[in-house]
Amino acid sequence: MGTLAQPPDTTGSSTPYEDRSPTARLEMTGISVAFGGIKALTDVSLTVEPGQVHGLIGPNGAGKTTMFNVACGLVRNTEGRITWRGEELRRLRPAQLSKLGIARTLQGVGLFPGLTVLENVMVGAHKHARAGFFSALFAIPTSDKDDARLRERAMTSLAELDADGYAARYPGSLPYPVQKRVALARALVAEPELLLLDEPASGLSEEEMRELGDLISHLSGRMSVLLVEHHMDLVMRVCDQITVLDSGKQIAAGTPAEVQNDPAVTEAYLGDAVDDTTDVSELAGIDGGTQRG
Ligand SMILES: Nc1ncnc2c1ncn2[C@@H]1O[C@H](COP(=O)(O)OP(=O)(O)OP(=O)(O)O)[C@@H](O)[C@H]1O
Ligand SMILES: [Mg+2]
Repeated sequence: MGTLAQPPDTTGSSTPYEDRSPTARLEMTGISVAFGGIKALTDVSLTVEPGQVHGLIGPNGAGKTTMFNVACGLVRNTEGRITWRGEELRRLRPAQLSKLGIARTLQGVGLFPGLTVLENVMVGAHKHARAGFFSALFAIPTSDKDDARLRERAMTSLAELDADGYAARYPGSLPYPVQKRVALARALVAEPELLLLDEPASGLSEEEMRELGDLISHLSGRMSVLLVEHHMDLVMRVCDQITVLDSGKQIAAGTPAEVQNDPAVTEAYLGDAVDDTTDVSELAGIDGGTQRG
């Protein structure tokens, strides 16, 4: 087991991680999105079951990030509904996510360059912050006790990602894979019930990707995960269920084994060049991910 998958130190956390098993279900039903004349998504449905890792895959431009952005309120669906914790989420906004128990990392990294690593992660903890860091941001007198608690939570989260040694550094001075770990620490510090990950493995080495896989499997013990990812070997290893998109439409769904053996999936990935005997499992060795900063 890699360093990323160490059991968390729960010191300073109000709720021990082990005491929380996920119970909430994310249901996205009949989701359509149009950007001007372009139909980015047409009638796509998926359900992230409690404590499961749900993979969302498909070739470039398939609509994965669009679906992901609908789930986190960054893009408004033109049709369909989203249900979370048994209630329909209407007019979901990114600012509400943390209160709803949802956290995300975006495609790319998205850290604040002017804040240290520790401060970046503290931003992610604001659901739990009563005063302290946020008062400080707005120059309001702060409570040292709240600030210390927040700092401790952020350090715990960084330590889980093996990134606590970088707490005082600025993101721009760190290697890309470390920045990605910090972004993940920022998402985890809010102790979400649902974690949304858009291409967390892009730009990672094979070893780092294996550790990420261990971490995601480990996290599913305490939260549900929606994983958008190009790296088939990672997806096939950690996902319980997979939804496959192509050109904004759902072309397959099921367990990794089911999806792997679906000819529509092979065809989508290889296009016209597909040889009928080619299996998606053969793509596992191909690095389909592209690094984005
Ligand atoms: N804000 C936008 N305005 C207009 N078109 C968009 C917008 N965002 C995405 N699209 C289009 O919607 C389609 C789906 O894009 P999306 O980014 O969801 O794909 P993706 O599966 O995440 O691709 P990738 O693997 O490259 O990340 C593409 O045709 C894209 O050009
Ligand atoms: Mg994308």
